Amino acid sequence: MRREEFISLRDLVYEKSGIYFSDNKAYLLENRLKNRLAELNLSTFEDYYYYLRYGERAAEELFSLFDVVTTNETSFFRNPPQLEMLKSILRSEYLSPDNRSETLRVWSAGCSTGEEPYTIAIIILEEMEALRETHPFAIIGTDISKKALLSAETAIFNNYAMRHVDAPIKDKYFTKVNNGYAINDSVKGRVKFEFMNLNDTKAYRKLGKTDIVFCRNVLIYFDEGMKKKVANHLHDVLKSGGYLFLGHSESLYPVSKALKPIALPGTIVYQKGAE
Ligand SMILES: C[S@@+](CC[C@H](N)C(=O)[O-])C[C@H]1O[C@@H](n2cnc3c(N)ncnc32)[C@H](O)[C@@H]1O
Repeated sequence: MRREEFISLRDLVYEKSGIYFSDNKAYLLENRLKNRLAELNLSTFEDYYYYLRYGERAAEELFSLFDVVTTNETSFFRNPPQLEMLKSILRSEYLSPDNRSETLRVWSAGCSTGEEPYTIAIIILEEMEALRETHPFAIIGTDISKKALLSAETAIFNNYAMRHVDAPIKDKYFTKVNNGYAINDSVKGRVKFEFMNLNDTKAYRKLGKTDIVFCRNVLIYFDEGMKKKVANHLHDVLKSGGYLFLGHSESLYPVSKALKPIALPGTIVYQKGAE
């Protein structure tokens, strides 16, 4: 890929998705786009750029572009200290008997193939069982990759995806099928998936006010400007007192000071103060 081609495509990817490929990631972008060129029978990256900008099927191709420029690495029960923190918040606040009538709303932003929102659903079900409480709850998983979302909706996971799922949880919430493990309807029915581009300001309006947001391992792909934009939107989406979980290596510093970090051993969670 020529330098000018890299700059044009890098800027286009950034403009559409907020995902930023720095100069030292040119090889990565090139590798990821190669298949698109082959599939579309295009000979140069410049041709692909014009196809995306002005082609008749540009709008449709954008979804394939999102599929290839995203990194969809995820797993069930990722980052256990954070999940312990989630359990403790659920027990002390959201699943307490005084909150029985309010629907607990959780959003997994950048949910990839669904392991994160399904993990949250399993944790809520397990906590309710342990507390002998029943509460209404709703989880939404959104992503910019339609391919990842399709896989999330299919909800069949291979042995590798299941590597952190303990045997009792596997037996209780999954059914062995030919090509892996299918998540049971008791969990599947709790999670709704939707396409959402975090770079699209209008898209946030469709989300209702949310109690808990997971946006883990997503901001790392953005530059400071995009991180700031997303952090502001996440702040607006949260109810007062609501919580935001970011990835292990991510922080809102210095892009936003609106949410208060609460540090606990091995983990940080952000909380929105009273408005
Ligand atoms: C590394 S995965 C993280 C999955 C999960 N949150 C976790 O921590 O295991 C990052 C996800 O963010 C999504 N993503 C990247 N940019 C996005 C954007 N602008 N809007 C929505 N999702 C985006 C990718 O498609 C990918 O599925």
